[in-house]
Amino acid sequence: MKNTIESLRRELEQHNYNYYVLNSPTISDFDFDKKLRELQELESQHPEFFDPNSPTQRVGSDSVSGFEQVAHSYPMLSLGNTYSEGEIQDFYERVRKGLNEDFELVCELKYDGTSISLTYENGALVRAVTRGDGEKGDDVTANVKTIRSIPLRLHGNFPDKFEIRGEILMPWAVFDALNKEREEQEEQLLANPRNAASGTLKLQNSTIVAQRKLDAYLYYLLGEKLPSDLHSENLKAAHTWGFKISDATHVCKTLPEVFDFINYWDSERKNLPVATDGIVLKVNSIRQQRNLGFTAKSPRWAIAYKFQAEKAVTRLNSVSYQVGRTGAVTPVANLDPVQLSGTTVKRASLHNADIIASLDLHIGDMVFVEKGGEIIPKITAVDFDARILVGDKVHFIKNCPECGSELVRIEGEAAHYCPNENGCPPQIKGKMEHFVSRKAMNIDGLGSETIALLFENKLIENIADIYELKVPDLARLERLGNKSAVNIKTSCEASKEVPFERVLFALGIRFVGETVAKKLAFAFKKIGKIEAATLEELIAVDEIGERIAQSVLKYFSDERNIKLINRLKQFGLQMQVSEDKLQPAGNALSGLSIVISGTFSKHSRDEYKTMIEQNGGKNVGSVSAKTSFILAGENMGPEKLKKAESLGVKLVSENEFLAMIEGEIKKPLQGFTGTLF
Ligand code: IVH
Repeated sequence: MKNTIESLRRELEQHNYNYYVLNSPTISDFDFDKKLRELQELESQHPEFFDPNSPTQRVGSDSVSGFEQVAHSYPMLSLGNTYSEGEIQDFYERVRKGLNEDFELVCELKYDGTSISLTYENGALVRAVTRGDGEKGDDVTANVKTIRSIPLRLHGNFPDKFEIRGEILMPWAVFDALNKEREEQEEQLLANPRNAASGTLKLQNSTIVAQRKLDAYLYYLLGEKLPSDLHSENLKAAHTWGFKISDATHVCKTLPEVFDFINYWDSERKNLPVATDGIVLKVNSIRQQRNLGFTAKSPRWAIAYKFQAEKAVTRLNSVSYQVGRTGAVTPVANLDPVQLSGTTVKRASLHNADIIASLDLHIGDMVFVEKGGEIIPKITAVDFDARILVGDKVHFIKNCPECGSELVRIEGEAAHYCPNENGCPPQIKGKMEHFVSRKAMNIDGLGSETIALLFENKLIENIADIYELKVPDLARLERLGNKSAVNIKTSCEASKEVPFERVLFALGIRFVGETVAKKLAFAFKKIGKIEAATLEELIAVDEIGERIAQSVLKYFSDERNIKLINRLKQFGLQMQVSEDKLQPAGNALSGLSIVISGTFSKHSRDEYKTMIEQNGGKNVGSVSAKTSFILAGENMGPEKLKKAESLGVKLVSENEFLAMIEGEIKKPLQGFTGTLF
């Protein structure tokens, strides 16, 4: 059995490597997942063959713990920065004089992510540590293991022990998708993929890290027994062991070759899937690197050349403030139109009050606008020399530009909010737009313009009014004929069948996105139960933290919201999980007390909790002598495992569990399929 498990592991590792490092998979995703599940199954049947570096360990664990601080065996230094060809020439001259012999330079891309140091022993990843202060960093091994392009086991002829350093990156595509999601939730956007990558790496829950699909490029080896004296050769060797090494690595013998490399990549880098912000030059021979040594902060044998961020100077004409659905107020700079990276820029983000204050902005100032890794151009500085006739200093507004309410700032948050949730027009209209949106109530025909029209004509003041709209009232409106009016009405009627979890999402409770709404709906089943839930009860639900719980409590403590929900209920909207989903599906688990532990691949923990209830079982939180069995997933906590062993409580794998209830489920988990969560 051990051999079967081992060979499956090797096979999956090879597929991971082909897919994530070589970019050329030789197996379909479906077959890969099938094999991975097969391995998971075998491993759960044979815990004695557990291997912390098995491909199954890449799915992450939901255990929460702080990070341990680890001292680096070799300090993690930074590089000197240069911005001009002249400075590169100076560097070249310093190296030439310092060595007094021929030398080569390796040109590499400077990846703009977060640096990481990986330690391998006997071909296995044993530790991954962030840069920290350069002397010691955070042990983020569990999170790093979820990054598919980082090999957990090496192949080929690698040294017994070595460190390899590189950059962890969030690819643009992942970054854009994440920001789109945040935009929908009106959460502050992540400024750039670098912050997003380092933030992700510091998450306490590696399951979420696994979902973020980080990537990694490695660029520097350290150890006693490296294969070659040449850095470029060591990188090549590392590639054969399984690491992702950039193709954009070039050995140059002369300065013109270096400049060619820089010029080529200055524009070509825009086609790469990840962010880069410059190039790095390294003396190729490690013996020569040793000869040159280090200054207090950085090596004398390497230097970074930073690409110019695309910048322009233009005039600040005014600052306007936008109020979003949740009341968040965003300051926007209105500028004289200026060309930047091929587009005309008229507006730039000013982010928040602190940023405005630190820039010392005045109306009429000439300002520097940059479009670096950021999606929205930003103002980076004022050109003080150009300040002749200064206008008014820009102060963040104190009152809502739309309704006049005094703005509030939540402690620890950068943004200002308008608290007038139910009386501020853009918040009301925004809530309505959200309510009718496709993923919420899916009401056709009510676009933002129609909503604005209905609102201005006082036909709707809150979301419940939508259900009282009459066809003649609608048809009378500008641009809306009888046909559209009938369509809207039909769509409103149809929305009464929209399941409860989506109704809950549609209400627009702050921080209650689609996933959270599902979690709450299935945990509490009825709106009344959510309304009555205490902070502790809310937090007890998987993935619901204090921030969300407080927001839910606040929402339900407002009389107006209760009234609104009651009206919606009267109109016939679904305010509880549908009977089908609640009905006991069987009695296979009748009388059994079951503990769920670990992470699962076929269904989420919440889904399993629901299945247990549906089949007559009871979910219990901790293992005791009364526990009938543990539904055990991957990475089950060691404490629980110990306790189970000592009490003789049986472990049941995911597949065994599913087999137990199979045939008993009348409606095979309707509404609880993988796509829902
Ligand atoms: S070499 C001692 N190579 O840039 C030199 N660094 O300020 C070790 N970086 O902290 C670094 N791409 O996070 C090196 N190809 C590359 C790089 C690179 C990005 C980052 C790294 C380092 C910072 C230097």
